[in-house]
Amino acid sequence: MGVLRVSDGSDGRLNFDEKLIVDVRGLTKVYNGRVKAVDNISFGVREGEIFGFLGPNGAGKSTTIKILTTLLRPTSGTALVVGHDIIRQPNEVRRSVGVVHQEYTADEDLTGYENIILIADLYGIPREVSKKRAAELLKLVDLESAAGRKVSTYSGGMRRRLELACGLINNPRLLFLDEPTLGLDVQTRVAVWGYIRKLKEELDMTIFMTTHYLEEADSLCDRIAIIDRGKIVRVGSPEELKASIGGDVIEVEVDGSTGEDLTSVIAGVGNVSEVKRSGSTGYRIKAKMGEEVAPLVIELLRSRGYRVKRISLTKPSLDEVYLEYTGRSLREEEADRDQLFAQRATLRRARG
Ligand SMILES: Nc1ncnc2c1ncn2[C@@H]1O[C@H](COP(=O)(O)OP(=O)(O)OP(=O)(O)O)[C@@H](O)[C@H]1O
Ligand SMILES: [Mg+2]
Repeated sequence: MGVLRVSDGSDGRLNFDEKLIVDVRGLTKVYNGRVKAVDNISFGVREGEIFGFLGPNGAGKSTTIKILTTLLRPTSGTALVVGHDIIRQPNEVRRSVGVVHQEYTADEDLTGYENIILIADLYGIPREVSKKRAAELLKLVDLESAAGRKVSTYSGGMRRRLELACGLINNPRLLFLDEPTLGLDVQTRVAVWGYIRKLKEELDMTIFMTTHYLEEADSLCDRIAIIDRGKIVRVGSPEELKASIGGDVIEVEVDGSTGEDLTSVIAGVGNVSEVKRSGSTGYRIKAKMGEEVAPLVIELLRSRGYRVKRISLTKPSLDEVYLEYTGRSLREEEADRDQLFAQRATLRRARG
C-alpha cells in the first residue's frame, strides 16, 4: 500500500502521515463585508520547524496570526492549532500557544520584570511560579541587567526581546511571532534571529513567524509560504523555492550582432531551462549550475564567431522567487517600509 498523498506539498498541503502542529483549511477573512484580507488559504506547519509567512504590506499576515491565536474569527474555514479547533476550542488553543504581536504591547511605565509578571497574572500563573519563570525568561533574552528599569528607557531591540519573553510565559509548544524584527537595525535583527533559533534548538519549540524581510525568511525559516493579497502563492524551503524558478540566471551580451537569433542554439546547451533575448545583442539564460553553463555558452558563441562583451551570473535570491510568483519585487517595498517606519519613529519622538 502506498503512502496516501494530498498533493506534492507545493500548494502548502502536506501528506496525511506528517505531523502537523498547525493545520489550516480554507481560511478566509473578509473585513466589513468588503476587504478580503485572507482568501481561502490552506497550509500546514510541521512540529519543530520555523515556518515563515513572507509577504508585503497588507498581504494578510497579521490577520492570519490573529485568527490562529483566536483573537479574530474567520469568515469561513477553520484550523487545528496544537490539535485544537480554533472556533470550537479557543481556550485550549490559547493555553497551548504563545504570541508576540506586531505592535508593542508592554506597559512603558512598568519595568521589564513587572511586565512579565503582569502577563503571567493574566494567564493565572501562581506568583511563586511566575517569579522564577520571569527570571529565567529575562536571562534567556539577555535582559537580566535591565529587568528593573522602566520599559520607556529600553531601546527598540530590548523591547522586542521583552515582548519575546512575554510571549513565552506559558511555556508554549508553538510560538507565533508577527514581524519579530520590524524596524530594528540589521545588527539587532541578527541578534533576535539568534534568540529565535535558540527557542527552536534548545527548547524544541515550533515557530510560526511573519516577515517582509527577505534575508530574515531566507536565513531563519525551514519553510516559507509566500503570501500575496491574501493568497498563498507558493510554499517550500528557501532552497526549494529558489530551485523552483529554474536555477541561476546568466546574462550575456555579444559583440557584432548580425541580427541572427541565437536563442535556440543557446537553449541546446545542457542544463539550460530558458533563454530570452534582452535588447538587440543580449540573452537572459536560466540554468541549473550556472557556473558550469556560463563557460559553455561563451565557447559556443565564440565558435559561431561572436565575441562576448559581458557576461554575468546571478544565483537566485528569494526576491527573484518573489518576483517570479507575484510579479513584484519585495525588496523595493521593504526599503519603502523601513523608511516609513523610521519617519514614524522620528515623529513619535518629536511629539515626546
Ligand atoms: N480591522 C480591520 N478592519 C478592516 N480592514 C482591515 C483590518 N485589519 C486589517 N485590514 C485590512 O486587511 C488587509 C490585510 O491586513 P493585515 O494586517 O493582515 O496585513 P499584513 O500582511 O499583516 O500587513 P503588514 O505587513 O502591514 O503588517 C489589509 O488590506 C488591511 O488594510
Ligand atoms: Mg502585519
